[in-house]
Amino acid sequence: MSFALDEGEALGLAGESGCGKTTTALALMRLLPYNGRIVRGSIRFRGRNLVKLSELSIRGIRWKEISIIFQGAMNALNPVKRIGDQIAEPIILHEGVDKQAAHARVGDLLELVGINRNRLRDYPHEFSGGMRQRVMIAMALACNPRIVIADEPVTALDVMIQAQILELLERLKRELDLSMILISHDLSVMAETCDRSTRTPKALSARSPISGAPGRSPSQSREPCRASSTRRPVASSTPGASSRSNAARPMSRRRRPSGDVRSPASCIRKFRR
Ligand SMILES: Nc1ncnc2c1ncn2[C@@H]1O[C@H](COP(=O)(O)OP(=O)(O)OP(=O)(O)O)[C@@H](O)[C@H]1O
Ligand SMILES: [Mg+2]
Repeated sequence: MSFALDEGEALGLAGESGCGKTTTALALMRLLPYNGRIVRGSIRFRGRNLVKLSELSIRGIRWKEISIIFQGAMNALNPVKRIGDQIAEPIILHEGVDKQAAHARVGDLLELVGINRNRLRDYPHEFSGGMRQRVMIAMALACNPRIVIADEPVTALDVMIQAQILELLERLKRELDLSMILISHDLSVMAETCDRSTRTPKALSARSPISGAPGRSPSQSREPCRASSTRRPVASSTPGASSRSNAARPMSRRRRPSGDVRSPASCIRKFRR
């Protein structure tokens, strides 16, 4: 499959369950499990092919430039670790700050996603599902990335909480000037949140660029549609596609009733300072 992401854009990645959406996201982050590898194609980010980078070099990009909100907030958090420590981990690791500074940043991040900063000593089981999803979003923002991949961020949540989380993502994207890839099998979620969408071909082939995933070869991918945006692409995944020839379609936004998420603008100003 082949697609490009423009700066400041929200791109939807759709596809049925099991077609390889999460696998694609993990490949973009170079986080495939031990039994999966990228055998051909390229992932271009600011002039660099991420596929060719050494593990050391990719660490400078993972979380700091491109981060992911993992699918399944319920399972992605470590149940025996305080959420403050979990969010602080990438900050300490990637920014070399001490625990105290990292925790101050975690407090700001929690406020940014609408959680009181004094909850940072709590464990995941002490949060609701929607709050855990917010914690995952805070974690993805920990190192101030330019691109966030949100893998099914609202799938396990009821419609009211879904609306709140989607609104939060939309505001964060706008106010932190993020580019976003939103993965979902729910096209209505995509219509509400994304500028364009692209579809994972049904069953990525065993001959596809990501070995270990079933499906079809790149040459059999859907014919590209004209890109709707003229903005500069920040990242693209090929084989061999440019931003002009990516297979994404423009989405017409649907209006969602506003949830009760408070505006994170003041927290964002603080965060950006
Ligand atoms: N660690 C793994 N080892 C082996 N196969 C895997 C692994 N992870 C995923 N797969 C396989 O890769 C295929 C794609 O899985 P993936 O999780 O990417 O699908 P998905 O599109 O994200 O599905 P969903 O919408 O249910 O999240 C599936 O057939 C799955 O069984
Ligand atoms: Mg998935």
